[in-house]
Amino acid sequence: MQSIRRALSTFIFVSFAVCWLQACSVLQPETYVPQRGQMGKDVMWLPTSDDLVLKMLDAAKVGPEDELVDLGAGDGKIPIAAARQFGARAWGIEYNKDLAALARRNAQRAGVAERVRIVHGDIFKEDFSKATVVTMYLLEELNAQLRPTILAMKPGTRVLSNTFSMGDWEPDQVIRVTNGTGYFWTVPAKVAGLWTLSGLDEKGNAALKLDQTFQRVGGTLTLQGKTQNLLGARMQGTELHFSFINADGQLKAVKVFVNGQVLSGEVTGPYGMVEIQPATVKVEGRRS
Ligand SMILES: C[S@@+](CC[C@H](N)C(=O)[O-])C[C@H]1O[C@@H](n2cnc3c(N)ncnc32)[C@H](O)[C@@H]1O
Repeated sequence: MQSIRRALSTFIFVSFAVCWLQACSVLQPETYVPQRGQMGKDVMWLPTSDDLVLKMLDAAKVGPEDELVDLGAGDGKIPIAAARQFGARAWGIEYNKDLAALARRNAQRAGVAERVRIVHGDIFKEDFSKATVVTMYLLEELNAQLRPTILAMKPGTRVLSNTFSMGDWEPDQVIRVTNGTGYFWTVPAKVAGLWTLSGLDEKGNAALKLDQTFQRVGGTLTLQGKTQNLLGARMQGTELHFSFINADGQLKAVKVFVNGQVLSGEVTGPYGMVEIQPATVKVEGRRS
């Protein structure tokens, strides 16, 4: 009898202890509050301010077609805002297990768990190449390490960084709020080299030579055996613009989209001649 009672009380004690431990493991993370400045793997946790999150996502025109990734997602506020306020699908990569769990719960609470995925992992190991928008609040040297990976992403991918720049890759836009600064870049298509264009001149093809440093482009255009410097050449993502003077001395503006080894778009002009209305003609091109 004694031994049955002892066995029963041991069973009740063990059951109670197991339940208590289970309750703790469920409840403990619910009460987790991250501390500003707590160390992460490569950089500490500090949240981006709400107004900078909104202004950065606005600048990048984030929308329902986007797949945003936040590198070092912290409590998940950027992926959550991208999903909730901009309708995007978003994911965050966070090395700290507790922060990753908190970010998942925050997404659930915000009602966007279906569109926000939090990966517990290392930004230097996870593949984020399919993202269309990349956000970061890391450090200058971490941005420098990530830069080759980011520049190899699909042209047109938008990149946002809180506070830290990308070295000599100048931003397309600087975003200022009361207590902070963000930077915005667009991954440029690789256009350096020689191209043959049709549509610029009725008398034959044109030869386009492009030099490129990130989104900065320049070069020359050869038409009917005459070479001139491109006027106002600029790139944003896959979009290339420049102007030139045709054989009749008329100013024409070119806008083309680059897709790997081919480009297509239009040339419009002449400009500045009141007696002739500008007309638009199709332009095609391929690498020479
Ligand atoms: C400054 S916080 C930014 C948090 C969030 N992106 C934001 O803007 O609110 C940087 C975050 O990166 C995380 N982190 C640091 N090194 C990491 C790594 N190698 N892989 C993934 N996350 C990392 C930290 O734990 C921290 O949560």
